[in-house]
Amino acid sequence: MNQDILQSAVTAPQNVGEMIDADAVGTVGSPDCGDMVRLWIKYKEHDGQKVIDKASFQSFGCQTAIAVASMATQMILGKTREEALQMKADELSAPLGPLPPMKIHCGQMVEGALKAALEAEQGSGAREPENISHAIDQTKSAPTLHDALSAADKKVGRIKIIPLNS
Ligand code: FES
Repeated sequence: MNQDILQSAVTAPQNVGEMIDADAVGTVGSPDCGDMVRLWIKYKEHDGQKVIDKASFQSFGCQTAIAVASMATQMILGKTREEALQMKADELSAPLGPLPPMKIHCGQMVEGALKAALEAEQGSGAREPENISHAIDQTKSAPTLHDALSAADKKVGRIKIIPLNS
């Protein structure tokens, strides 16, 4: 894994933050480490096709997850939903070089969040009533981040959390 690219992506990650006017949002948690990634997407019409106009993310994960999510939100711009659905974790993390075995799930988590957003009902991101950090604050006693967001999911009633198969 290229540590220089990792460090620059982590030091200045692109497209970080909640997207209030998103068309869709996807959230995935890793049962391996308890980390999570949430990814928002907004589409636009271009030459008669619907393509991804904007993407942003929040990561409660390791540096690799942050770097891959940052890269993914840049790589998918201009792609159709179908094109973006074809993108696998190794493609999204390609600028970092091959990931060590213990970090492969980090890229898979970003792929999962992207797929969850692409497959989400459109408009699901636009009515997000609370951001993640607020939701977590409401569930401080939960033992893990995954549990915290699961509890937030119940509270908010519409956050979709999809655990990855390891
Ligand atoms: Fe779990 Fe990277 S996302 S260690």
